[in-house]
Amino acid sequence: MANYDVIFIGAGPGGYVGAIRAAQLGLKTAVVEGRATLGGTCLNVGCIPSKALLHASHMLHEAQHNFATMGLGVTPSVDWQQMLKYKDDVIGQNTGGIEFLFKKNKVTWIKGWASIPAPGQVQVGEETHTATHIVIASGSEPTSLPGVTVDEETVVSSTGALTLGRIPDHLAVIGAGVIGLELGSVYARLGSKVTVIEYLDAITPGQDGEVARAFQRLLAKQGLTFVLGAAVQGVTLTDGTATLTYKLRKDDSEATLDADCVLLATGRKPFTAGLGLEPLGLALSPRGQIVTDAHFATNIKGIHAIGDAIAGPMLAHKAEDEGMAVAEILAGQAGHVNYGVIPGVIYTHPEVASVGATEEQLKASGTAYKVGKFSFMGNARAKANFAGDGFVKILADKATDRILGAHIIGPGAGDLIHEICVAMEFGAAAEDVARTCHAHPTYSEAVREAALACGGGAIHA
Ligand code: NAI
Repeated sequence: MANYDVIFIGAGPGGYVGAIRAAQLGLKTAVVEGRATLGGTCLNVGCIPSKALLHASHMLHEAQHNFATMGLGVTPSVDWQQMLKYKDDVIGQNTGGIEFLFKKNKVTWIKGWASIPAPGQVQVGEETHTATHIVIASGSEPTSLPGVTVDEETVVSSTGALTLGRIPDHLAVIGAGVIGLELGSVYARLGSKVTVIEYLDAITPGQDGEVARAFQRLLAKQGLTFVLGAAVQGVTLTDGTATLTYKLRKDDSEATLDADCVLLATGRKPFTAGLGLEPLGLALSPRGQIVTDAHFATNIKGIHAIGDAIAGPMLAHKAEDEGMAVAEILAGQAGHVNYGVIPGVIYTHPEVASVGATEEQLKASGTAYKVGKFSFMGNARAKANFAGDGFVKILADKATDRILGAHIIGPGAGDLIHEICVAMEFGAAAEDVARTCHAHPTYSEAVREAALACGGGAIHA
């Protein structure tokens, strides 16, 4: 008899959520985690610490720019070491919370790094644990870029960017994706000059084009400088100064940029090193992702995989959903993830949130659609809160009015988007949202107004 019904490898949002659900469903469950604390990249060096720094630096921005208008007299200053301590306390509270949930749900934490010597076996140090099912939830790690050596001091990944010894004078960010813009925002607010160098001609690849353009304008207003269409060739270090060389794609001309700190944020890749997948014959895609079927099963019986280690968006909540779904499947239920309704959020200020199709995707697929848009300038609450920048954009099927996608840039976008997610899960029409009473005054009225704009028209436009 196996020691466990299921062993999850990795205690990030995929593994820890999956394990808790498996235990709730009556499976004897363990999680192998080698980090000193639970929660994976997200809680330790990703989503949570970056949100703490975004919150703190946004408070500074409010104090510097809006307090006086409201009659509040404060002279803000930055104690960087205290801000880092606050961030570390937030991490501690959250990782400790997972440990508590493990105890509460009787999930065993096997401490150490796992490998899989054979199906049904998980090796941790000298010990071999047995399980009927193994779920690989080993996550991802930053990708490297030829010519750029990350030392986590002058040239940092997202991990090093959360523990810098001091606030840089000039931060160069390679990659205008989610990490580059969130952390770039943090340091711009804290007083760094921030230059973002992006290979493509637009920021946030895959984003609805209109939103990406508006987002870039707002970030530029906040002081971020963008060099688009530029491929970074390498970084050299001289006496603590980094010199980036990049090539402009339009004419192949080369230019350089000096900075005292460089953040490499050009994407992440699955982290599967050390698991022993090759001798097992476990199938990987050319991009190193574990190949799974619709039920998260790999080509080896008894081994499943979820989260950043498999295909799909590298998002904590996508991993969580897959964790719950795989637990339900292993418990004999019908676990399922609707990949058509996975929201994406960028936690800058304003926030950017999207779900479903972009306008570009609808055009490419030849779908007849209509657009309902509403500016936060027409939202009383947003105006009162210095948050009138941005808009809600709902895309609906031209014939049926069914919501196909939504894109929000503005205050609380990351929370507002979920109204549309629920609507899409229920196959709602824009009119369904438009006919739902929304409390006044709230930011959510902007969502209703955009839904109204898909039909007879918004009221406050
Ligand atoms: P990303 O894939 O979002 O963006 C990377 C950017 O780097 C792309 O725009 C790409 O064109 C650019 N790039 C690549 N090579 C380059 C070069 N040589 N020179 C200049 N630019 C270059 O990757 P990012 O921001 O590193 O994030 C990694 C993952 O983590 C993503 O999947 C992201 O969704 C996830 N994440 C999600 C967050 C959220 O949901 N709020 C927060 C942080 C990360």
